[in-house]
Amino acid sequence: MPVAIRLLEVLKQENTEVHLIITDAAKTVLKYDLCNSKKTIETLEKTADFLYDENDFSVSVASGSFETDGMIIVPCSMKTLSAVANGYADNLVSRSADVCIKHKRNLVIVPRETPLSSIHIENMLKLSRIQNVWIVPPVVGYYFGTKNLEDMENYLVGKIIECFGMEHDLYKKWK
Ligand SMILES: Cc1cc2nc3c(=O)[nH]c(=O)nc-3n(C[C@H](O)[C@H](O)[C@H](O)COP(=O)(O)O)c2cc1C
Repeated sequence: MPVAIRLLEVLKQENTEVHLIITDAAKTVLKYDLCNSKKTIETLEKTADFLYDENDFSVSVASGSFETDGMIIVPCSMKTLSAVANGYADNLVSRSADVCIKHKRNLVIVPRETPLSSIHIENMLKLSRIQNVWIVPPVVGYYFGTKNLEDMENYLVGKIIECFGMEHDLYKKWK
């Protein structure tokens, strides 16, 4: 969840229009993930240009005719991963992801689970074979002089936005 918050901060700095969906389950996870932070769900919501209920299919991002640069699911539960991998569009997250896939737009999935079962891995493999779908696990990196969690979060956000070809100086690239 802190990665999602940092991502939204970066996208705002880059003047990217953000349409945010927070699932009901994610709202619960947020509370736990932010228990040692001053940040709250409102921090996340305030950063978005548009905020949607996961059950509202009448909004812009539910339709392919609404043009976007793509979608990032961060963090992506194994339930949502499965829904997206199997075209089971039963909420706005999986429907919007389905739209990105059918229009061959960028779709970045940041899976959240460990250890991974063969079901999880098969779902990821299925998705990674689709054009413009990226599986970007939040794997920690130390080789660029990481000092703290903020450095790590910046590194992960850098890895996510690189999928969209966005330039950044969130971490020191290998030379
Ligand atoms: C504190 C907390 C942590 C969780 N962590 C994970 C996780 O890392 N991966 C996962 O797949 N589900 C996790 N879950 C379970 C999901 O929230 C649950 O499967 C939910 O149905 C996912 O729904 P969503 O994908 O619509 O957000 C967690 C739940 C709680 C309460």
